[in-house]
Amino acid sequence: MFIPFLKCTDMKISVIGAGAVGATCADNIARRRLSRELVLLDIKEGFAEGKALDMTQTAALHGFDTKIIGCTNDYAKTAGSDVVIITSGMPRKPGMTREELIGTNARIVEGVVKNVLEQSPDAIFVVIANPMDTMTYLALKSTGLPKNRVIGMGGALDSARFKCQLSQRLNCSPSDLNAVVIGGHGDTTMIPLIRHATWNSVPVTQFLTKEEQDEIVAATMVGGATLTKLIGTSAWYAPGAAGAAIAAAIIGDEKRLIPSCTYLEGEYGQSDICIGVPVVIGKNGIEKIIDFKLNETEQAAFNKSADAVRSMNNVLNLANA
Ligand SMILES: NC(=O)c1ccc[n+]([C@@H]2O[C@H](COP(=O)([O-])OP(=O)(O)OC[C@H]3O[C@@H](n4cnc5c(N)ncnc54)[C@H](O)[C@@H]3O)[C@@H](O)[C@H]2O)c1
Repeated sequence: MFIPFLKCTDMKISVIGAGAVGATCADNIARRRLSRELVLLDIKEGFAEGKALDMTQTAALHGFDTKIIGCTNDYAKTAGSDVVIITSGMPRKPGMTREELIGTNARIVEGVVKNVLEQSPDAIFVVIANPMDTMTYLALKSTGLPKNRVIGMGGALDSARFKCQLSQRLNCSPSDLNAVVIGGHGDTTMIPLIRHATWNSVPVTQFLTKEEQDEIVAATMVGGATLTKLIGTSAWYAPGAAGAAIAAAIIGDEKRLIPSCTYLEGEYGQSDICIGVPVVIGKNGIEKIIDFKLNETEQAAFNKSADAVRSMNNVLNLANA
């Protein structure tokens, strides 16, 4: 029942928004012993305090010594954070697109990043709130932070869902798969790159008919919507775990190649946009963008995806912010 106690790192992580995704992300961070101190902040009175207390009571069961602090809108508690994960924002309801959340979540995210920066001027941000590509762009433009310090979480989750679909169809371990999703984090904007997906170096296309490939790609793209329909709100286990995986890559300077939303300046033929591409994540946040060659069809899909993300950004009128 009890697992051996292992020391956590000496870092500090704050998670803003203690709802479904934020709390799950924090739970993963504690279990993985990624930080010495973990702060959960929410605007709902007592909510983050309660979740932090509940999580603290799992310490003896999971064997971690992270100090978990919950607070109601008290940014002083987040001071000196190395990584800040932003999950504060409305989730979508069945039938809603991520894009429909834009007005409310933009106001929340803009206020949150400003408050966080006053307390943690050197923090690296992981943006999860939707519509995530636009919220990442907003966090970057409204703060003037260097682009390596603002990471949008979408590709990590979408790629995990892509691997899940592939592993079920191939009857193989998802850990043996290499498969990435690029583009915007939306039902119609994400691009699961099936041509590049491999089962331990063997192209998966070798084992799948064209029809099967199309089905896997389509199921990946509506992965979030399928869950929203089943649960009645958006998912949290995989999104929370994906947020923690990005935090782990930063905290451990892991140099992991994780498709994530980042600011492009000419890569993939796009500029002045935050959108999902493969990036290397380490102690400085996004350390490198991997600009690999897309074929004509993939590039056309990427350009179309960028157009959709850009029109969403235009709603906020941030281009010259
Ligand atoms: N990027 C992704 O892959 C991904 C995946 C899943 C969910 N999401 C998004 O993450 C967000 C959170 O989803 P959820 O399911 O956890 O929602 P939730 O409603 O369970 O939690 C959101 C929390 O944010 C809090 N909050 C609102 N305004 C705040 C503020 N100004 N300061 C601090 N806290 C505030 C709320 O009180 C609530 O507890 C949503 O926007 C959702 O669409 C993104």
